[in-house]
Amino acid sequence: MLSGDPRHSAALRDAILDGLRSGQLSARHSRGLPGGFGGVVPPGAAQHRGGVAIIGGGPGDPGLITVRGRQLLAEADVVLTDRLAPRSLLDELRDDVEIIDAGKIPYGRAMAQEHINAALVSHAQAGRFVARLKGGDPFVFGRGAEEVLACLRAGVPVTVVPGVTSAVGVPASAWVPVTHRGIAQEFHVVSVHVPPGDERSTVNWKLLGGSSGTLVLLMAVERIGAVADELLQYGRSPDTPVSVIADGTLPTQRTINSTLEQVESRVAEEGVRPPAIVVVGDVVRVAAEITELMRDVTA
Ligand SMILES: C[S@@+](CC[C@H](N)C(=O)[O-])C[C@H]1O[C@@H](n2cnc3c(N)ncnc32)[C@H](O)[C@@H]1O
Repeated sequence: MLSGDPRHSAALRDAILDGLRSGQLSARHSRGLPGGFGGVVPPGAAQHRGGVAIIGGGPGDPGLITVRGRQLLAEADVVLTDRLAPRSLLDELRDDVEIIDAGKIPYGRAMAQEHINAALVSHAQAGRFVARLKGGDPFVFGRGAEEVLACLRAGVPVTVVPGVTSAVGVPASAWVPVTHRGIAQEFHVVSVHVPPGDERSTVNWKLLGGSSGTLVLLMAVERIGAVADELLQYGRSPDTPVSVIADGTLPTQRTINSTLEQVESRVAEEGVRPPAIVVVGDVVRVAAEITELMRDVTA
């Protein structure tokens, strides 16, 4: 690397190396598996050079993807992205990268899971390296394992890159610790994509109502009234603090603090829409204390 000025040349070389290490730059020169792919290569897979990386993109802030996730994204020939994935990262990709939007809009049109699986497999079998960019962690209510299984059953090499799950990262972004010494020794992460009482629900609401641990509820805002009723019925106190954090880690993030008794009306008053995380438990008081002290420190 020569620019005329030796110090400038060295700075340019270092910047390029940093970019390659972080995944902000790609030096890809062939359509094979990227170096350090590290995936599971099933028997019979050697005849094609493509592969799939199922990448957890974190809760939304593009800075919260892992270095490994970003490196593999930079190597992709094809990217299949979800609605809650950090989409601004796609702007950094080269022009020749094919981007497929598999966005799952609640109750709206989205690519069916079997079509997503089929697209991953067919692109990889055509020799391409496919990055499947998902929100949060692929294995936390993310269907990541279904996609891994589909690849392996088709003989396609696949790897998974863990991500910062919204279940923990979004509360942290609002200063809510999911555990705190002397307050919560356990936290339960629950999907409320079906309400309590629904025949498809496998959640033990009686146990959760009787526990004093933190509850982290995903996909819950539209069913928050039914959830609060269930928890109150099984023993949680009406004044249990509740924090509802919408658009966590994004510039539009907002937090609504309430109690179990009032959360349904507060969510309705504030017009909270998904995506949001609901945290139930005394750890919410710790967030209030941190926020208060933070105000003094930054004043
Ligand atoms: C299908 S789940 C996917 C979870 C994801 N795999 C993860 O680990 O974060 C989607 C739910 O995650 C939560 N969620 C994801 N991103 C969020 C964000 N940025 N802010 C608040 N909640 C979020 C919401 O409860 C949303 O309905």
